[in-house]
Amino acid sequence: MLFFRYNLKGRVLKNHIVFPPVLCFGWSRNGEMTGEHLEHYRNVARGGAGLIISEVTCIDAGARIDASQLGIWSDEFVEGYRNLARICHDEGVPLMAQIQHGGVKAVTGTPVLPSKLTEAEIAAAGIEQKANAARAGELDIAEIAAIETRFTDAARRLKEAGLDGVEIHGAHGFLLSYFLSSITNKRRDEYGGGLENRARLVTGIIRAVRRECGEDFIIGVRYGGATPSLEDGIGFAKIFESAGCDILHISTGATPLDAVEAPEKYAEFTSPVYTAVEIKKHVSIPVIASNSVGTIDQAKLLVDGGLVDFAAFARNILADYDWVRKTERGLEVNRCLRCKPCRWFKRALTECPARRGG
Ligand SMILES: Cc1cc2nc3c(=O)[nH]c(=O)nc-3n(C[C@H](O)[C@H](O)[C@H](O)COP(=O)(O)O)c2cc1C
Repeated sequence: MLFFRYNLKGRVLKNHIVFPPVLCFGWSRNGEMTGEHLEHYRNVARGGAGLIISEVTCIDAGARIDASQLGIWSDEFVEGYRNLARICHDEGVPLMAQIQHGGVKAVTGTPVLPSKLTEAEIAAAGIEQKANAARAGELDIAEIAAIETRFTDAARRLKEAGLDGVEIHGAHGFLLSYFLSSITNKRRDEYGGGLENRARLVTGIIRAVRRECGEDFIIGVRYGGATPSLEDGIGFAKIFESAGCDILHISTGATPLDAVEAPEKYAEFTSPVYTAVEIKKHVSIPVIASNSVGTIDQAKLLVDGGLVDFAAFARNILADYDWVRKTERGLEVNRCLRCKPCRWFKRALTECPARRGG
């Protein structure tokens, strides 16, 4: 039941609602946690979500998608995360952080790909960062191993900081999603081809993080439920589960082609939510559905109906920090106006019209 407690590896979550990662653009200058971040997450934690997965943090200074993105590429960032963990834990909310490599979307350093793509392949896949994709270098085995180590070091730092776990970012066109999708991964070695091979970097990271951080640490993976088909999305779920993943967070994949249409029965939901429901049938670890679960009734349908374990709400909570608490009590909320693009991409707190009262 949505507002009932849930025990996730010994942590008590007060309900089945997740605040998913949301990058606060412009707050950080060079990857450091700021007072604004701490205040923001304190408000989110007080607002009632059962679990917070903090915004995408980069494992490599040269693989960031925005200069203001948080960083975890060196020990100097541990203290900031320690403060963040304390704030969330003081409010009784477990905290995971999302760890990522920007891949072809990197604006610092050199963009990289699992395999070289031709101009025709880039165009056919609908890759937005055409210029980056065209000049991106193909990773060799030593570079892939170094990336796995960077992810593991990042997780070790976050564990040291007192976080409950990490979410490995394998979605949204970042590096790991490019490995997963057969549309963007044309490698002919052990990192390309079949599902096990395309998943190898992610499963390598899961296993290495488990070795480094121990059994108690929560390891999640966010990835596209259709990368590039639902069948593959289900296959990856089973592979991640066997590698030791504790929780799956289903979203969009590497490119716009990594999507399937929801059938009539799920017409009110987006493709990622539909794929989350299908994936849940094939694994025993918990599954988070995200991307436009718009209302509490939809969340109840999904969670109370046993279709998924958690519903994530990003923009609703951005529009009103107290959205969960108020909704549970049937109180009025500041409604997200679904601006396109979301004004949080610019200046979060001052630009969101819902927060300003419409
Ligand atoms: C401003 C903004 C920043 C985001 N940053 C991240 C991020 O850091 N990592 C991530 O996986 N998703 C990110 N997302 C996607 C959200 O986690 C979520 O999937 C998306 O907003 C759809 O969910 P919603 O309909 O509940 O808002 C971001 C979304 C927004 C609007």
